[in-house]
Amino acid sequence: MEERLDSLYAEFSREIGAASTGAEVATIKAEYLGKKGRLNEILKSLKDATPEERKTVGSRSNELKQKILAEIDEASVRIEREEIDRRLASERQDISLLDSLRDRGLGSAGYHPLTAIGREVEDIFISMGFDILDGPHIESDYYNFEALNIPANHPARDMQDTFWFSDMHHLLRTHTSPIQVRGMEKHRPPFKFVGPGEVFRNEAIDASHEAAFRQIEGMMVGEEVSVAHLVHFLKTLLSEIFHKELEVRLRPGYFPFVEPGFELDYKCLLCGGKGCSVCKQVGWVEALGCGMVHPRVLRYGNIDPDIYSGFAFGMGWDRLVMMRYGIDNIRHLRSGDLRFVSQFRAY
Ligand code: DAH
Repeated sequence: MEERLDSLYAEFSREIGAASTGAEVATIKAEYLGKKGRLNEILKSLKDATPEERKTVGSRSNELKQKILAEIDEASVRIEREEIDRRLASERQDISLLDSLRDRGLGSAGYHPLTAIGREVEDIFISMGFDILDGPHIESDYYNFEALNIPANHPARDMQDTFWFSDMHHLLRTHTSPIQVRGMEKHRPPFKFVGPGEVFRNEAIDASHEAAFRQIEGMMVGEEVSVAHLVHFLKTLLSEIFHKELEVRLRPGYFPFVEPGFELDYKCLLCGGKGCSVCKQVGWVEALGCGMVHPRVLRYGNIDPDIYSGFAFGMGWDRLVMMRYGIDNIRHLRSGDLRFVSQFRAY
């Protein structure tokens, strides 16, 4: 009887030593200590043994059971540790590899210049108390045109070559101005917000035109909002972006959603106003369209134009990025060329 216990323990030791997963340990435990396990088999056969034998074998088998349990615990701990080691080895990252990536100009991640400048612009507006709003890329005729005082058949619809969906009621937004309408639906005056985002036009692509580009829309409505507010906020924005005090000027400009409407220019940073190739010899660079929100647009937003006034602006942001970094072709921005974007890694 005792020999059987000895050989049982020897076999158990061999098996548990070879186990390499938690499932194997569980099977071994059941095989030896389970109800129908091998230890119980031995104990069952004790019924034919002498009382003396029963006593010694009984206590020995108890000891053996405790020993087996302890070894099973040890094996579980060992296997868990091995599992962790295995995972550490297989999930190991060779961080020294970054050096070779960096040598190829692909090292650390960074922001795309459009993202980097976009965040700067947002931060500047947030610091001046503006909210940031978002709007969908796919818009309805109502938000993109109608509520902006551009009814069907209005010639201004032709100013923006539109990607229409086949239902002819939906389109890829041609500007960020729909965010104005959505903003007015959500806010009661006084309020001020900006809405940045991608816009789409069915245009011929060249060094300064893309079918997808980025704009930021701005709007402020209150009881005494004037052109002075408009000039103040935009001058602050441009001076912050270019890290120096800029001179700006307003020229009359036509946009159906503002009255009066303006184009805002800033004095060319390269030539200081003398005229150069960047400003096309004019001395001034066009920055954005803006104006005082048209009363009809306020009414579309459920705002009483007899009580409230507001300004709005819409600024192309790719041009700003190009100006800031001296990029000469808009197509670089969305080319996906890592050699281009990696130059801006420092952010
Ligand atoms: N939405 C105009 C465009 O894309 C830009 C613009 C002009 C926006 C004047 C405005 C504005 O809010 O007041 O050409």
